[in-house]
Amino acid sequence: MLLSYIFFLLSWTSIAWGLSNRPSDFCFGGCELALGIFTFNSTTPDHDHRSRAQKACDNTFQIPSLYLCLRIYCTENERLRGLDAKNETCRREAGVSLPPWEIVDQYGEEDVNRLRHLMEEDIEGGREGSLSEVVVLSRGLFRLAFDTLDAVFFEARIHNAYGRAMYYLWVVIIAIGLSSHLGQYLLTSRHHHPKWQSLPGDDEEGDTMEEPSMKWKRSIFDKPYVLIKRYVTVPATFGYKRSQNVGWCTIPTRVQSLAIGAFVGINIVLCSCSYRVFANNIYWPRVSDQILRYFADRTGIISTANLPLIWAFGIRNNTLLWLTGWDFATYNNFHRWVARVSTLEAVLHSLAYTVMIVAGEGSVKEAWTYYLTYYQQKYFVNGVLATILMVAILVASVYPLRRNFYEIFLWLHIVLSIFVIITMYYHVEIFRGYTNYIWPCVFIWVFDRAVRFLRTISFNLKFWNTKAVTAYGSRTNIVRIVVPYSSSFLKPRPGTFYYIYTLNSWTFWENHPFTLAYSTPELSDSSPSNSPSSSLSLGTIKTTTPSSSLTFIIRPYNGFTSRLRISAIHRPATQRVLIEGPYGETQPFHRYENVLFVVGGTGIAVPLSYLSVLLNGEARTRRVGVVWAVREVEFLEEVLGKDFSGRGGEGNVEAEVEVRLTAYITRRGGEDKDDEGEGMGVGVGQEISMGMGRRVKVLRGRPNVFDEVENAALEAGDESLAVVACGPGMMADDARRAVVEMLGRGYGRIEYFEESFNW
Ligand SMILES: Cc1cc2nc3c(=O)[nH]c(=O)nc-3n(C[C@H](O)[C@H](O)[C@H](O)COP(=O)(O)OP(=O)(O)OC[C@H]3O[C@@H](n4cnc5c(N)ncnc54)[C@H](O)[C@@H]3O)c2cc1C
Ligand SMILES: NC(=O)c1ccc[n+]([C@@H]2O[C@H](COP(=O)([O-])OP(=O)(O)OC[C@H]3O[C@@H](n4cnc5c(N)ncnc54)[C@H](OP(=O)(O)O)[C@@H]3O)[C@@H](O)[C@H]2O)c1
Ligand SMILES: *[C@@H]1O[C@H](CO)[C@@H](O)[C@H](O)[C@H]1NC(C)=O
Ligand SMILES: *[C@@H]1O[C@H](CO)[C@@H](O)[C@H](O)[C@H]1NC(C)=O
Repeated sequence: MLLSYIFFLLSWTSIAWGLSNRPSDFCFGGCELALGIFTFNSTTPDHDHRSRAQKACDNTFQIPSLYLCLRIYCTENERLRGLDAKNETCRREAGVSLPPWEIVDQYGEEDVNRLRHLMEEDIEGGREGSLSEVVVLSRGLFRLAFDTLDAVFFEARIHNAYGRAMYYLWVVIIAIGLSSHLGQYLLTSRHHHPKWQSLPGDDEEGDTMEEPSMKWKRSIFDKPYVLIKRYVTVPATFGYKRSQNVGWCTIPTRVQSLAIGAFVGINIVLCSCSYRVFANNIYWPRVSDQILRYFADRTGIISTANLPLIWAFGIRNNTLLWLTGWDFATYNNFHRWVARVSTLEAVLHSLAYTVMIVAGEGSVKEAWTYYLTYYQQKYFVNGVLATILMVAILVASVYPLRRNFYEIFLWLHIVLSIFVIITMYYHVEIFRGYTNYIWPCVFIWVFDRAVRFLRTISFNLKFWNTKAVTAYGSRTNIVRIVVPYSSSFLKPRPGTFYYIYTLNSWTFWENHPFTLAYSTPELSDSSPSNSPSSSLSLGTIKTTTPSSSLTFIIRPYNGFTSRLRISAIHRPATQRVLIEGPYGETQPFHRYENVLFVVGGTGIAVPLSYLSVLLNGEARTRRVGVVWAVREVEFLEEVLGKDFSGRGGEGNVEAEVEVRLTAYITRRGGEDKDDEGEGMGVGVGQEISMGMGRRVKVLRGRPNVFDEVENAALEAGDESLAVVACGPGMMADDARRAVVEMLGRGYGRIEYFEESFNW
């Protein structure tokens, strides 16, 4: 028992120390290891006071045996290097020097043959008896020792290499994402030269003047691209559900599933291959023990190597987001899967070690007592805690909790993660090198928090002094927040979102993401006369719409948003807020001739936000369709009156771009209210023009998303079409499926985008 414990510690430390070992060192190590199995009688009487290390440095039987082994099996080089190191260690730790090499000169060929030869069979007895003679190791025994070291160091190297393989895999996945991001960019910009690169009026002929070589390239590259879109990038993994939940799970798209599948697969493969095992290994004679041990180390190391990935994929300020163009939800999926795999590996690691510890014991009681002795080791206790905490995080992240008690989920997540980092640190601290996997987690986290703070102060240096106007309409059931942004360094861009904190509440740390509906002055307006810098009205807002402001349209739910609603339930309230942002990417909708937004409820913020770029006269867009499912007719009226009519008008005076809003009122307000469109001059069912190329049609009932996408595709024909969904899960899934279907029908120039309000 004690022996196995010593072997256990010894092999751990040698694994850590030996990371740089080359096979040539195994010769010296093999001699030492094989001789170390046996106990040599100490000739000096005061052996009680002498440490093990000291005895191994000047034992009159052991040292000559070692020298003989070196003489027989090792090269001069291996011998010198090994002895020099050992001599040094002996001097440092035991205060004695090794006897000179020449002491073995007295053993001639004949003498050696006469000495006792230790065989493989002697191992068992050797662990008990004590040798009072100089011995020679048989070739077989030396070979076993050599192979043992070779296997242990091979495994140590391969564990680490496989741990690093996780990074190579994600580099490949992200490189693919990056190139497809670039490819998408190039494909959309190659077909038609952007208008701003050609002379005014030229763009109509752009298509016909396309060089023949361009046409050829287009057909050659388009086919596979369309096929990839149709079968890989757009569809949900199993056909339909992507935004909607299936039970407690969300199903990623096929590309994401491929990436996740590759990751899970590689973890399974790398945890189950490259086990160099053989019978009579000196550390663990049984093959099953070797497998158990190597498997335990493998899963432990790969699990640790995965930790930085969990942090890298989970943070808000993830640079990979804009490199690959994948959204936060995608990386959030990766975050979850890496965490799941890493936790499973940690559990397997712990189980394997527990089995190893208790396996050799006779009774349950003995096993338990022996197991408890491990709890005197700091690293062991921390390891056990780390595994338990990782499992706890997983359990505390189940969908119902995330969904219904988001703040509790978040706090548990943060606190437990901090403890995982601490316990993991103390678990791997004694094994040199592995804290290299822990520090990155800390750095990533600190980096994210720092950038979050930078974003907050870049929005307003006096971040505590941003005063927003919150208004709530009981009939629309919508909260509007208007925030002055004249002090922001970063210009608001369409399609981005901001995290909002309210400082006057006792949960001032609570923050939630909201899409920028629009900003005044117009988002893309860069003419200096309109620039926000002329406005210095910050902090003294009297009107509900300050001269340069961001507008957010928010649906109150149960938590934070409900408190926003209550704060403004009677009259608009001015309150201190903290704005962290902008986050997210502006999608290149302006490069599509046709854009169709399919949105529900507050999802209307997305088309509103993009209208100004689509209509600024520089976009290639000719037709914008907005299909909007809205419950409250008052919400529709408000948006039509306040937000829709004036947006982006300046660039579209000649009505070059046709904007068609089809609103579907889904809540039945009684038949007598059939003419409720009157307030805005829109009757149900009829289409009216609002000027500047804008037409509005109000219908009842839910939109048929498939038909809407189909119609848009038919209308677009050969032109490019971006379908943008932002609404309830089922709506987005309908839109996604419709796009896949239309791709299949040969409308290859459709692209699908989703702005998710849920992750
Ligand atoms: C990128 C993005 C943009 C959004 N834009 C808008 C918008 O323009 N208008 C709008 O009305 N809503 C928007 N939302 C949704 C909005 O963030 C949630 O409605 C809000 O966080 C709910 O807060 P609550 O405490 O009232 O929610 P609760 O009633 O506690 O929970 C409601 C739901 O919101 C989810 N949720 C809660 N907090 C967060 C959070 N911090 N991050 C993500 N999800 C959360 C919960 O899981 C739950 O599903 C957006 C969400 C995202 C992710
Ligand atoms: N889950 C949350 O707690 C939460 C919080 C904030 C935002 N969000 C998300 O933000 C978006 C808008 O939220 P909201 O509260 O403003 O929305 P909302 O008021 O519920 O409006 C959604 C609209 O979409 C319609 N709709 C739903 N499914 C549809 C389908 N399959 N086909 C066609 N129309 C459909 C609804 O019609 P009916 O009236 O017939 O249902 C309703 O008119 C949604 O994605 C929502 O999930 C979610
Ligand atoms: C060890 O050596 C001493 C004398 O050097 C001897 O008396 C003793 O019997 C030896 N013990 C064994 C176990 O060989
Ligand atoms: C170990 O060091 C001592 C003192 O420096 C030296 O005399 C001895 O020869 C060395 N032994 C070996 C094997 O190198």
